[in-house]
Amino acid sequence: MSKQNFYVTTPIYYVNDKPHIGHSYTTILADVLARGHRLLGVDSFFLTGTDEHGLKVQQAAQKLNRSPIEHCDETVKRFQELWAKLGITYDYFIRTTEERHKKVVQEILQDLYDRDLIYAANYEGWYCVPCERFFTEKDLVDGKCPDCQRAVESLVEKNYFFKMSQYQQRLIDYINEHPDFIQPSHRRQETLGFLQKPLGDLCISRPKARLAWGIDLPFDKDYVTYVWFDALVNYISGVGYRTDEANFRRWWPASYHLIGKDILTTHTVYWPCMLMALELELPKTVFAHGWWLTQGAKMSKTAMQGQTAQERPSNPMDMIDKYGVDALRYYLMSAMSLGQDTEFSEEAFILKFNSELANDLGNLCSRTVKMLEKNFDSVLPPANEPGADEAALVAACQNAVAAMRCGIEHMQLDRGIAEVIAAVREGNRYFDAQKPWILVKEGKLEQLGSVLRHTAECLRIVSGLLYPVMPEKMLQLRRQLGVEEKKLVPNMDKLSQWNCLTAGVKLPCLEAPIFPRIEVKKEKPAAQVREKPQKASAPQPAAIAPNVIGIEDFAKLNLRTAEVISAERVPEADKLLCLQVRIGDEERQIVAGIAEFYKPEELPGKLIVIVANLKPRELRGLVSQGMLLAAKQGKKLSLITCDQPFVSGASVG
Ligand code: MSP
Repeated sequence: MSKQNFYVTTPIYYVNDKPHIGHSYTTILADVLARGHRLLGVDSFFLTGTDEHGLKVQQAAQKLNRSPIEHCDETVKRFQELWAKLGITYDYFIRTTEERHKKVVQEILQDLYDRDLIYAANYEGWYCVPCERFFTEKDLVDGKCPDCQRAVESLVEKNYFFKMSQYQQRLIDYINEHPDFIQPSHRRQETLGFLQKPLGDLCISRPKARLAWGIDLPFDKDYVTYVWFDALVNYISGVGYRTDEANFRRWWPASYHLIGKDILTTHTVYWPCMLMALELELPKTVFAHGWWLTQGAKMSKTAMQGQTAQERPSNPMDMIDKYGVDALRYYLMSAMSLGQDTEFSEEAFILKFNSELANDLGNLCSRTVKMLEKNFDSVLPPANEPGADEAALVAACQNAVAAMRCGIEHMQLDRGIAEVIAAVREGNRYFDAQKPWILVKEGKLEQLGSVLRHTAECLRIVSGLLYPVMPEKMLQLRRQLGVEEKKLVPNMDKLSQWNCLTAGVKLPCLEAPIFPRIEVKKEKPAAQVREKPQKASAPQPAAIAPNVIGIEDFAKLNLRTAEVISAERVPEADKLLCLQVRIGDEERQIVAGIAEFYKPEELPGKLIVIVANLKPRELRGLVSQGMLLAAKQGKKLSLITCDQPFVSGASVG
């Protein structure tokens, strides 16, 4: 295996689901990384696909009166069509129902069974149908599924188990010795925390009586394979494990398995144990990204279903038709700091688009191209070596090249993109400082040509660096700059050099701005909304709260109930406690100035109220993801709690 190769995977998505932001985000991220590595000249392979077995598919097919495979053949198209629309350049789309994959899963099972790593035993426990997972009594939360909080069924039945427990210590050692294996580091800590409890064996079968839609166990035809065992194998079957050894050796171990944080345990515990049993290397990095949130909660199909248009949060999928694929790709890649949760909002989307794409990049493009058209009949003037005036511009572009390389290699795309936009801003600053309109007036055409050549060079470099993120728009920009057809797809070597455009080339006319500004319909200004005059005797709100706000301001707050899981003092900060809280199925950390009023041990179990959509901030090196509410009276402080046993994550207002 050449160390240079880059192999990236996404989770394989449940074929039954309608593709949403979660699926699209990971797939776009993988696409940007794959395109980015191609830009760097690194051989890359990008695998995505669909997870097609399991009860939900069986049930959905039954409802529609068709066979499960007919159902999968229909529903898989939704993913394939969306990926085509989003410009996803996967190298292979794996379906777990394909023969090659099924054969590999069965061979693996037989192999582990022959080596006594799979055994039969009676299973007693609890089963969650929607999650298709078994739980022990102690796993349950209030008698319900710890993952989805729904009711579970009691079960006693014969099943087959993979001896996962025997790899526990080896896995802990591996994680400790390979800091890059699980990223970001807080997810590594989470997995190590999980591994502090004894690791059980993994039930890898389902009796056909209960679930027929799966891969038959080769040694017992009354059973099918547990979907997760089947699904995880895609990462090796998709590159030829046991069917094309040369190809497999070329790509394995994967450089990155990209996953969402909710599927961490399957990828950082089950999967490595399976690979150890198969005596295969582990993937270099499992990277768990955060979630896109809406009003503080995970965006998903259900979260997007409000009662009325006003209640419904903006659906990122609608943005594709409204603002274009590349604008969405740009926003998703530049707005999320990898590893952290990020609130999605159409407002933030528009702000970013208008400022970075329309005002900065679009403006530099149109002012350069228009001046070339007016003064040089769109023929690119000859190049001059950059001088003192250009030093800052050249440095900003070089900096952008280095930052984007680092962003692609080290999963810091948001930072890479920010440096590219900084180079564009430098381009605009340079343009303004050179005052080309005065050069026109004074007839200094040679100098004018040189200025425009330099801004065009800046644009060429920028178009190459942003190509992995916005392939269509950047190709358009490169054509606009007269880049030859065969050189349209950029490579990093050329982007590190200045003066690569060809003098004398006639540029196409700029028919429309490359990123037209998004005009936002203004809401009626508050002053126009006349309120009834109040009677003189009516109590004035100003007496208790001088800054009166409208209901629309209050509505911006997302208040939620949150259960405190643990609390500890913050070292060398007398007033601060660091709380871990649960809000529905999400965990967060909140740093609060309540140490003088509450002891850490008093807090676990309390159901408090927090502001869930407050921008995270750092306090004494700790990130605080929200603010808790408390009442204050003199020197006393009381946390706001619920007077009824409510669930965490309930909205408050
Ligand atoms: N089939 C399994 C994966 C098997 S991989 C061997 C599965 N499928 S899924 O369709 O549910 O995957 C959804 C993916 O989207 C997960 O990685 C999940 O974290 C991600 N997301 C779902 N909602 C999300 C957001 N709101 N934001 C970002 N990603 C989230 O799990």
